[in-house]
Amino acid sequence: MLPTRKEAEKLLTEAEKCNQGAWGNHSRVAAHCAEKIAQECGDLDPDKAYILGLLHDIGRKFGVRHLGHVSDGYLYMTSLGYDEAAQICLTHSFNTGTIDAYIGTFDTTAEELKVIQDALKTVIMDEYDKLIQLCDSIAGPAGVLEIEERMRDVKERYGSYPQEKWDNNLKLKKHFEEKMGKDIYIVVDKDNFKP
Ligand SMILES: [Fe+2]
Repeated sequence: MLPTRKEAEKLLTEAEKCNQGAWGNHSRVAAHCAEKIAQECGDLDPDKAYILGLLHDIGRKFGVRHLGHVSDGYLYMTSLGYDEAAQICLTHSFNTGTIDAYIGTFDTTAEELKVIQDALKTVIMDEYDKLIQLCDSIAGPAGVLEIEERMRDVKERYGSYPQEKWDNNLKLKKHFEEKMGKDIYIVVDKDNFKP
């Protein structure tokens, strides 16, 4: 189940009041990109893509955390019955399908870590998971960024970036560009879109 666009926008606005930061507009940029790419793919629902993009980082509502934002978002969306958004809160951080390539601190409790590991074991990633992973890697807080530029920025902030994750993001870009038959940056109106 998913919230409506309006409900999702409200959830994000409310969440930002609890923990202000660039993550709110980063989420809006990701949502915009997901919607535009889904429109061009033909077999994806643009509304669903937008809503999932908007909520992928909703766990940040509960404070500044690294891996903790994954379990916070997953548990929050699950508690509201929004299982599809919960899945995205989980999968957007793991484009390799495992927790090992996570960039950032493992700041979860043992219980939270188990929630993530158990959920990752059973999840079957689909096109929406892949789409939001891609959009997360091109969404800056002020607009769309080139994928390498965004990954370099993350690398600088965290000190490293796993090569497998880097390569997978480039593969995701190629996958969706082939599906659309178009350049991703043109589809998302990279040079003009502002959140
Ligand atoms: Fe994100």
